Amino acid sequence: MNIAVVGTGYVGLVSAACFAELGHTVIGVDIDKEKVRKLKNGECTIYEPGLEEVLQRNLKSGRLSFTTDLTEALPAATVVFSAVATPPNEDFSADLKAVFIVAETVAQYANHDLVFVNKSTVPVGTGKECEQRIQRVLDQRGEKYRIPVVSNPEFLREGCAVRDTLEPDRIVVGINGNNWARKLMDELYHPLTRVGKPLLYMDRESAEIVKYASNGFLATKISFINMLSELCEKTGGNIRDIAQGMGLDDRIGPRFLHAGIGYGGSCFPKDVKALIALSNETGIPLPIVQATHDINDHQRKRFFDKFLSVLPASATVGIWGLSFKPKTDDMREAPSLDLIPMLTKAGHTVRVHDPIAMENAKKIIPDIEYAESPMAAAKDADAVIVLTEWDVFRGADLHELARDMKGPHLFDGRNIYEPKEVRDAGLTYYGIGIS
Ligand SMILES: NC(=O)c1ccc[n+]([C@@H]2O[C@H](COP(=O)([O-])OP(=O)(O)OC[C@H]3O[C@@H](n4cnc5c(N)ncnc54)[C@H](O)[C@@H]3O)[C@@H](O)[C@H]2O)c1
Repeated sequence: MNIAVVGTGYVGLVSAACFAELGHTVIGVDIDKEKVRKLKNGECTIYEPGLEEVLQRNLKSGRLSFTTDLTEALPAATVVFSAVATPPNEDFSADLKAVFIVAETVAQYANHDLVFVNKSTVPVGTGKECEQRIQRVLDQRGEKYRIPVVSNPEFLREGCAVRDTLEPDRIVVGINGNNWARKLMDELYHPLTRVGKPLLYMDRESAEIVKYASNGFLATKISFINMLSELCEKTGGNIRDIAQGMGLDDRIGPRFLHAGIGYGGSCFPKDVKALIALSNETGIPLPIVQATHDINDHQRKRFFDKFLSVLPASATVGIWGLSFKPKTDDMREAPSLDLIPMLTKAGHTVRVHDPIAMENAKKIIPDIEYAESPMAAAKDADAVIVLTEWDVFRGADLHELARDMKGPHLFDGRNIYEPKEVRDAGLTYYGIGIS
């Protein structure tokens, strides 16, 4: 099938490359000229394990190509995906400008029937609004093309996005009664359903809500364990043991029960905020979601406050980890972006290391020292703080670290060390809900 994927960021690029890998002919569209230039040359514009290989293989086969011009992609496309960003507005609602621009542009230049599929995370009702906007443009043009709007939310995780796309737990498709669109979605996902991957059909509103419900629920699990970590710090109790004791219960499961400095990234914070905005807009209370958001802010703040309180004046601080989680170069809503300005404003010297995200971080925070290795970042530091649980930090030689640092403070924002091992190395340990 011929498809177009509009927006070639973390979701769009992976989707485009993987649809080509599954045998479709795909054209990726992005307004970012430099991105498209690199992609055409087979240069991966994001760090995502396995992606470069899939990208290059499919460029070579001719099934995958890129353009900055949506009108160039439309004549051949039967299905057009929108995978543009939907960042939070000031009032927490999702900014849908890019989605509507893409929908209206498609309607403006379509010259045949096609299906418009929303892969971006969008609030319930957005599919309906896209359909109305598309119809308005078609009416203005006096054209009778059929352009139904389908919701197909994306569940991939950065860091294992290629695998998640080629081996999804489920594919969710929301269609409001259009058999032709359903037939095309069947055909599109046939390479995955053939090998047993579940494709769930539902109405478009349900599909739009499933995405927020899933992210809201996972974020709630994280905030729940983080809430209890503060209790442990007051009463005694080890949050890791508690999480294990809970997680071995089949009904609960062990994942997303790791206490830490809270969730970040491009999805959980914004999707939780969008649910809060939806609650405000509809008047339907969503108090668990609000609490999830508040706990996440509180958790980050209380750990950073503790960190700032032990630093001497004009301290040297080593930061291990910049991206919001390991195996990605994504800096969106990363804890490092909160902490580093606090430290530099207070007159401290900041030295950082991240195995992958330093190039992206330099574009946002250029005026700090970027170190070649974790130990170089920790050299002569009064305190070191772990913000991202990259494997390279887990395996650090704590005795060497203690020798190289000037001060004794090791703040473990991801609970990756055994407190006793840190103390045995001669350092002072600060974890989350463990002592
Ligand atoms: N990143 C994730 O892990 C993830 C996972 C699931 C769902 N999502 C959702 O998918 C959507 C996309 O997220 P992302 O992380 O890929 O965003 P992103 O910022 O990485 O990519 C968006 C891309 O769209 C391009 N773009 C913007 N306007 C455009 C236009 N008018 N025409 C063509 N291209 C345009 C941008 O240049 C950019 O390359 C969001 O709604 C997000 O919530 C993201």
